[in-house]
Amino acid sequence: MKQIDLLIHNIGCLVTMQGSSKPRAGTEQSEVPTIHHGAIAIQDEKIVAVGSEEDVRKSIQGLPIVKELDARGRLVTPGLIDPHTHLVHGGSREHELDLKLKGVPYLEILAQGGGILNTVQATRKATEEELYSQAKRSLDLMLLFGATTVETKSGYGLTLQDECKQLRVAKQLHESHPVDIVSTFMGAHAVPVEYKGRSEEYVNLVLEEMLPEVKRLGLAEFCDIFCEHGVFSVEESRKILLKAKELGFKLKIHADEIESIGGAELAGELGCISAEHLLATDQKGIEALKKAGTIAVCLPATSFNLRLQKHAPARDMIESGVPVALSTDYNPGSSPTESLQLVMTLACLNLRMTPEEVLTAMTINAAHAVGKADTIGSLEVGKQADIVLYNATNLAYLPYHFGINHVHSVVKKGNMVVS
Ligand code: NIG
Ligand code: FE
Repeated sequence: MKQIDLLIHNIGCLVTMQGSSKPRAGTEQSEVPTIHHGAIAIQDEKIVAVGSEEDVRKSIQGLPIVKELDARGRLVTPGLIDPHTHLVHGGSREHELDLKLKGVPYLEILAQGGGILNTVQATRKATEEELYSQAKRSLDLMLLFGATTVETKSGYGLTLQDECKQLRVAKQLHESHPVDIVSTFMGAHAVPVEYKGRSEEYVNLVLEEMLPEVKRLGLAEFCDIFCEHGVFSVEESRKILLKAKELGFKLKIHADEIESIGGAELAGELGCISAEHLLATDQKGIEALKKAGTIAVCLPATSFNLRLQKHAPARDMIESGVPVALSTDYNPGSSPTESLQLVMTLACLNLRMTPEEVLTAMTINAAHAVGKADTIGSLEVGKQADIVLYNATNLAYLPYHFGINHVHSVVKKGNMVVS
């Protein structure tokens, strides 16, 4: 070791999340390794020492320290990970608020050609540059709220060309923005208007043209699908996900968001890395997830914003041994928010998760849900130095004091990107 590029010291409460080679489930979800009066030493984008300040200083003794950051007793956590967003899209849908207040259900708005299909129109019309600048504004906000890695999906193009346009924007963001992006192909997000009543033909298009070409171009690591009554059936979802698996995609699935049609069971059957939403999932679905080791990604901002009476059974999942992750589901319809801190509050109050379970869900479990737990999700020697400092001294303060931004500063790959 020649020098320390950055030493963060005087950390009041350092939550490391160390020792999580597997997603944390059951009682482990609330075991949050914490060090009081801690420090982190960074070199070349990576953590080279982490622990009590005394131990860290001893282990780096004699090395020149280029920069020091006094955390002044603050709370410090791994960079937050948002494992499910629809970041890249055109337009916005504030006009749906009126319909929602009149009680028109989400799937009814979609069936009338609005909802997702409205955003499809706007996304198809938008140029790559327009999509880039709109998504960048949101990504900047996500970072300000503490996210250092964000998953994003296609699914508002619904033609090969327009799906690739969205995914190219995601790639460009990954290359130009401090936040790392994980890309997912979601050509089966809705049946586009030009295929209305011919969903089988659209499924074939996804199977035969879109999936192989997206793979060939290397534009996405994951494949996702909206498995829901009136959107894609379990049989259609199975076909698409099986083909995706065969091509080498890792799998995700939007399952049981509004109705329980067997999406969670399908996730288990196919060994999906994660299953999302799961509001309507019953004990059978939970057992299937548990058996397969599938991570449940809960999205409490979505159930809040859709004014649903039900929330995902996160407590049952945790108690049954299913690892739970949390996400914004940022999108222009069901969840127009970039704030993982709002999600913290909603997860505590509506899903009855503890602050410790919430942090696990947004760090190490989210890292597993995007297939990156070997490099992010905890503060350990050898991992990427993605770190958040808060204007708070303990974890519970974050969900407790809601509606504001607690982030003091963010370090991404060893560089101060928010200060
Ligand atoms: O995860 N449910 C499907 N997809 C998104 C919503 C997309 C939209 O309304 O534009 C979701 O909630
Ligand atoms: Fe979603």
